[in-house]
Amino acid sequence: MRLSSIAVSGLLHLVHAAPFLQRPLSRNLDLDPYGGKPRITFRPDGTFKLTVFSDLHFGENPWDDWGPEQDANSTRVLKRVLGDEEPDYVVLNGDLITGENTFKENVTSLIDEIVGPLNDVKVPFSSTHGNHDNQINITHLEEILYEQKVAPLSYTRLAPRGVGGSEGPGNYWVPVYRHATDDSPVLVLWFFDSRGGVSPNPNSTLVPDWVDASVATWIESETRAMESAWGPTTKRAALAFVHIPPYSIQVLQSTLDAKKNPGLNADLLEGDGAVQATYSSGTLGNDKPFWDSLTKNVKNLHAIISGHDHGNEWCAREPTKDVIFCFDKHSGYGGYGQPEWGYGVRNIHFTSPDPTHGVETWIRLEEGETRARIMLDHAYGR
Ligand SMILES: *[C@@H]1O[C@H](CO)[C@@H](O)[C@H](O)[C@H]1NC(C)=O
Ligand SMILES: *[C@@H]1O[C@H](CO)[C@@H](O)[C@H](O)[C@H]1NC(C)=O
Ligand SMILES: *[C@@H]1O[C@H](CO)[C@@H](O)[C@H](O)[C@H]1NC(C)=O
Ligand SMILES: *[C@@H]1O[C@H](CO)[C@@H](O)[C@H](O)[C@H]1NC(C)=O
Repeated sequence: MRLSSIAVSGLLHLVHAAPFLQRPLSRNLDLDPYGGKPRITFRPDGTFKLTVFSDLHFGENPWDDWGPEQDANSTRVLKRVLGDEEPDYVVLNGDLITGENTFKENVTSLIDEIVGPLNDVKVPFSSTHGNHDNQINITHLEEILYEQKVAPLSYTRLAPRGVGGSEGPGNYWVPVYRHATDDSPVLVLWFFDSRGGVSPNPNSTLVPDWVDASVATWIESETRAMESAWGPTTKRAALAFVHIPPYSIQVLQSTLDAKKNPGLNADLLEGDGAVQATYSSGTLGNDKPFWDSLTKNVKNLHAIISGHDHGNEWCAREPTKDVIFCFDKHSGYGGYGQPEWGYGVRNIHFTSPDPTHGVETWIRLEEGETRARIMLDHAYGR
């Protein structure tokens, strides 16, 4: 007993000393987290196009004809849009499946259906997860691990241990370079886990519906590490994706103006759970540490982008933090909605690698119609 505990305490000394000595090395490794995968880069002409699918809601009522028919329709949307748009990167912004209707033994086959069209066209992509992805028979963690296994070009990662809170492991970032051999990226895509839904197993309980406060501290330390390795934050652009809109977005709806904020506005943000931290009154606004940290530490943040509220497509400037928020477009035939809302994607098009240059964004519907085109730039929404 005694001997081994001395040995252990000796080891602990070494373990403590080593990271200090190796600090610059381990920082560099952390800042290049995709060693084995191709780097994501802008095109040779200096452009970069990102397509966001949101709320695909695969797997509803597999025991009825209409469930599988919906999924076939959603697969059609995925294939058609990928073929037409030829994006450089794809984001799946949460609620990939309707977990409530799934079976423990075959739930991951729905992930196979979703990533199939992405694998076919060999487009790099990554996912956030939503309240419907945390249910009795499925968790965010399971979806992430399975996606990593079956999708060679998945860039979805897990946050370091201790970051993200219960059932919220999907916090990570993806660097995008001007040229594959550059030392530092010109764009960082941030992904956050807004959790929600219920915990797995038969005695399931509600999961908090906001990005955990531990993520706020992590954003701060990551941006600091990026600064020391890559130079000032202002040399990079950023985009942020999180399934449930931040709490601060709720009040913007009453200020919308059809000219400034084009796009469908059919979903009131007042119901329980419509934005983060509104599921129960005792936790109202609990995403504040995350929101404060994101908007303070990440510079040139072109937009924060969420899905969740299927009837909304608008963007708006949030005046207190002076950042732009945008809704996705409901992409899947599953999930609540009205046929006249349509199904589609949000496109985001960088026409320059300059991190301060405006970025174009618009909604594209399944059949090809486009609308709600705006420029995410300094002048937008003022
Ligand atoms: C999963 O199993 C259930 C129950 O047997 C079945 O109804 C459903 O179609 C299966 N789902 C998939 C995606 O294979
Ligand atoms: C599938 O798509 C077709 C064509 O848009 C539509 O008519 C049909 O209602 C859809 N079915 C379901 C179950 O969503
Ligand atoms: C979960 O999976 C099990 C096993 O297939 C199934 O019996 C159950 O109905 C599923 N759904 C829920 C909500 O438990
Ligand atoms: C669920 O709760 C019941 C009753 O408290 C308990 O007997 C059972 O072990 C629990 N099951 C799990 C998987 O936690």
